[in-house]
Amino acid sequence: MSALHRARKAAVALTATAAAAATLSLGTPSASAAPQPIVGGTTTTTTSYPFMMQITDASQNQFCGGTLVAPTKVVTAAHCVVDETASSVRVVGGRTYLNGTNGTVSRVGDIWIHPDYTDVTNGDDVAVLTLSTSMPYTTAPYVSSAQTNVYAAGTTARILGWGTTSENGSSSNQLRTATVPVVSDSGCGSAYGSDFVRSDMVCAGYTSGGTDSCQGDSGGPLLIGGVLAGITSWGEGCAKAGYPGVYTRLTTFSSLVTSEVNS
Ligand code: ARG
Repeated sequence: MSALHRARKAAVALTATAAAAATLSLGTPSASAAPQPIVGGTTTTTTSYPFMMQITDASQNQFCGGTLVAPTKVVTAAHCVVDETASSVRVVGGRTYLNGTNGTVSRVGDIWIHPDYTDVTNGDDVAVLTLSTSMPYTTAPYVSSAQTNVYAAGTTARILGWGTTSENGSSSNQLRTATVPVVSDSGCGSAYGSDFVRSDMVCAGYTSGGTDSCQGDSGGPLLIGGVLAGITSWGEGCAKAGYPGVYTRLTTFSSLVTSEVNS
């Protein structure tokens, strides 16, 4: 579990600069780990995915992703914002590049974190940010609580983010995307034991690894059929064979999210 714990420590408040520094303290990546996109995948743009938001600090340094589900509402991970205050966070839309200055920057008026959230391995990794400024971008639909069938094993899901492109690598300046198959709950349980909370999490990734979300992608979307169905949450390292990425199972939290979206 040490790699998981290190990954989690490295995850929150990760900036491009912090990622480079973290690499030093996390040890040398294996020589065979070639740099890969998101890990595995391709570059894309916020024009293609207009609901894809950067969650940043007050200086607009990105540390997580988020999904615009209403003009002033962004779904992200609880672990992304649990140590933040509304005044310390910004949401940036319409900005494909981390070093860009374009798009729309909003302050955050309110951070709602699932009241039961303690740690990613205990589930409840969901938060909703209320923006002070409306985002002029197309929102993403999200699953209803009834749509539990979307997580059928083998279903293709899409992940997005600016996170590190290898396990101990650095963030991607350009937004990246990849597709990964949903993993069965039994398969995910075999990988993660009691850290996999079936009601609150869903796994996605190839058995052989190679494609995954990674540090800095947290809070961003797992889309199934173009609908927000998961939130990037955690994993043992990144893109490792036998260790799929773990995402918040949004159907479980859909009604709660709707309450916040309508509040
Ligand atoms: N916890 C990470 C973050 O805060 C996301 C890790 C996802 N890991 C994975 N192997 N899919 O950015």
